[in-house]
Parts: sequence; structure tokens; C-alpha cells
Amino acid sequence: MRISVIGLGRLGLVHAAALASLGHTFVGVEMDTERVRKIHDGTLEMHEPGLADLVRTALTDGTLDVTSEPSASLGARAHFLTVGTPELAPNEGFDASYLENALRTLAPSLQPGDLVIGKSTVPPGTAAALTAQLHRESPDAELAWNPEFLAEGTAVRDTLAPQRLIYGVSSPEAARLLDEVYAPILDTGTQRVITDLATAELVKLATNAFLATKISFINTIARLAATSGADALQTAQLLGADPRIGASHLHPGLGYGGGCLPKDTRGLAYFAQQAGVMEAAQFFAQVDAVNTAQRQHITEWVTAQCRGRQEPQVAILGASFKADTDDTRESPSIALAHALMNAGLRVRIADPVVTASCGADSRLEFVRTAEEAMREADVTLVATAWPDYQRLDPEELLSVVRCPLIVDTRNCLDPARWRNAGWEYHAMFDPVMRLR
Ligand code: UDX
Repeated sequence: MRISVIGLGRLGLVHAAALASLGHTFVGVEMDTERVRKIHDGTLEMHEPGLADLVRTALTDGTLDVTSEPSASLGARAHFLTVGTPELAPNEGFDASYLENALRTLAPSLQPGDLVIGKSTVPPGTAAALTAQLHRESPDAELAWNPEFLAEGTAVRDTLAPQRLIYGVSSPEAARLLDEVYAPILDTGTQRVITDLATAELVKLATNAFLATKISFINTIARLAATSGADALQTAQLLGADPRIGASHLHPGLGYGGGCLPKDTRGLAYFAQQAGVMEAAQFFAQVDAVNTAQRQHITEWVTAQCRGRQEPQVAILGASFKADTDDTRESPSIALAHALMNAGLRVRIADPVVTASCGADSRLEFVRTAEEAMREADVTLVATAWPDYQRLDPEELLSVVRCPLIVDTRNCLDPARWRNAGWEYHAMFDPVMRLR
């Protein structure tokens, strides 16, 4: 089947390249001509394990074409909308205008019986509004919602082997067409569930808000552990060992970031507020507030440690919002760097893939290696759980820093290794780090 994908960002390009490897022919339409050029050149704008190889193979085999020409969608039967839904402004809900524009641009290429499939994260009601728009422009085409649950760093695997497929559809024909699209995945036994449009929209938003809630929950419990002498990490592990709770997203630390969890949690709060369900709005706003507070706790503690020192310096290891990605959107690490700089500290930041040229922020002092960041540092903070940092040599680094004090905000190092080498090592919630 010929399939088009509108929007070749982190979602669309993975979707097109991964599904092209399963036997369909894809055309990806991307308005940003520079992004199209980079895809053709093999210089992808994003670091996503396995993606570059898939894209190269699909382009060479002719199972993927990438263009800025909207009419390239003509002749496809299924059209995925994978454009972004950024926040209009903080706490003001999602901006659906990219979806509306994508649909408007796609409309002249639609033929009777075509299916337009939204994949972006949106509040319930968006698909209904887009359906009305679609029917004004192409009365014989239909709209479905098929949310995506891929996580960065494992996006290719998540797309090829999803835990479940959700079809928000208005007709059996739409479900049948989606079955054709996903046939190779369904053949492996993947569960697929048919819902209405609003349920498909809400499931995605609720999934991300739930993951965010789990993280803020465990961070709250870890704070309580620190005040009571309990072991925060062991508490988290034992909580996650209960099958009713599950271990994922129960890792305490600096908090969540990225393009999804923060935006979607605030988006759900806004949706609840608009719907007049104020306790829901407050609940999700509090999840967001707990998350932001993590950085404040660390900032206060580090600032207190540096008080009285001459030109204090802090090394931050890791800039991306999590390991295995170069994405710095809402990165807790970057937010922490800003907070420490605002507190008057010099901050140097290093990351295995993020560099100053990635456009994170021109005010940040990026250096190439962890060692460079740690030169003359009074405090070292591990802010992203890159495996590279587990391979650092604490003994060698003793002579690099001004003060051998390390805070592992992601609990990803071996504490004994660092302590035995002579470092003062703190996990994020060590009782000595208790602030109040
Ligand atoms: C998330 C969802 O997992 C995915 O299903 C959805 O489609 C998009 O949003 P992603 O943003 O890639 O994916 O990252 P995820 O692995 O969920 O982590 C999000 C953030 O939470 C990261 O900053 C991570 O460091 C943090 N995190 C994760 C924790 O602080 N503790 C945890 O236990 C897990």
C-alpha cells in the first residue's frame, strides 16, 4: 500500500522509515526543505538509535520518498498526520494549528475513500473538529485517531513492536484500512483495540500524564524517605515489585522532561480546567509542580555547598532530557543549569551527543567532555543517566576537580566506586541532602 506521512519530526520520520521496512511504500511530506535535504544527505537532525540505518535503507530501496511537495500524497490511501502540537503558551493548552494546516495542505490530494490518521497528542474533541474541517474540504475522506506510544531512545523498536495499537475510528472501513497498514505487526500477535475518536485521544494524554504522575509520586515518596531515614531507592524498588504498580517510571531523581510528559501533563490540567473539573486540573498541576521542585531542591543544596567559595563552579554531566537522545526540550538538566547560573555559579555542561550547536541555549557553557566540565569544579552533578558516566574513572578525576563532591541526581553511578576513590557521593535523596 502507498502511504503518506505529513511531518517528518521525531514521530513522523520514525513511523515512515520503520513501517517502510515492513513492506509498504511511504512518501513523507515535510515543509521544512532543510530537514528534507538533511534526510536525503543522511545527516539526520535527531539522534535516535537505529533510525539513520532504516532511513538510508528505505531511501535506497525506494520504499521511502521524502519531499516538500504536498501533492506527493496523491495516490496514497492512508495519510498519517504526525505534526507537532506544542503548547500555545505555558499552561494554555495545545496548539492545533499545525494539524489544521497539515489537513488543509493535504486536502487537494485526497480521493474518495482515503483515510487521514492523526497520530499527534491532542485533547479529546480535536479529532471531531478536524473531522468537520476535513468534511468541508474533502467530504468523501474519513479521519481516524491512532495515537503513538513510542519513547525516545527506543522509538524504532516501539514502532515496530508496539505494546498495543489503538484505532479511534468512526467506521469499520477505517479499521480495515488500518489493519492493512499494520498487518505485519498484527501478524506477530500485537493487540489492537477499536475505540471512538475521543477515547483514542484521551488514552494517549492519560498515559503520559500517568507516567508523569508516577515519577512525581516516587519523587515525593523519596523526599519522605530522606526525612525519615528510609532508603529511597529500596523503597522505590519494592513499590515497583508489586505487580499492581509496576516498576517502570518509578525511578526517583531530578524529574521528567522531554517533548511529551511535561507538555501533556500541563495540557491535561488545562483540558480539565476548561471542562470545569477543577480537582483534576489541580491534581495535574501539582504533578507538574512536584517535578519542577526537584530542580529547586538541588539548586538550593548546591548553592549552599558553594557559599563562601571563590568563584564557585559546577559541572553538569548530561544535557539531554534522558539518555540515548539529543533532545533537550524541557530538559531538567538544562533547567538546573539555568537555575544555578541565576544563583551566581559558573556552570559547565557536557553531554555525549548534545553540543552548543544543537541550539540548546547560547548562554550555556558547553564543553566537549565530562573531564572538561569537571575541571576545577566545586560540585559535580550527574543530570542525565548516560552509560558513559558509569565508565568514568573516579580516581583519575580526583585531580581534575577542586572539590570531590558528586551528586548523582539519576542514581546511575556505583556509589561504592566513587566513595572508595575518595569522593563525597550523594544520591539525589541522601538524608544529608535534606534541605528543610
Ligand atoms: C514518553 C512516553 O514514555 C512515551 O510513551 C510517549 O509516547 C512519549 O513520552 P519519552 O518522553 O521519550 O516518552 O521518555 P520516558 O522514557 O517516558 O521518560 C520521560 C522523562 O521521565 C525523562 O526525563 C526521564 O529521565 C524521566 N524519568 C523516567 C524519570 O525521572 N524516572 C523514571 O522512572 C522514568
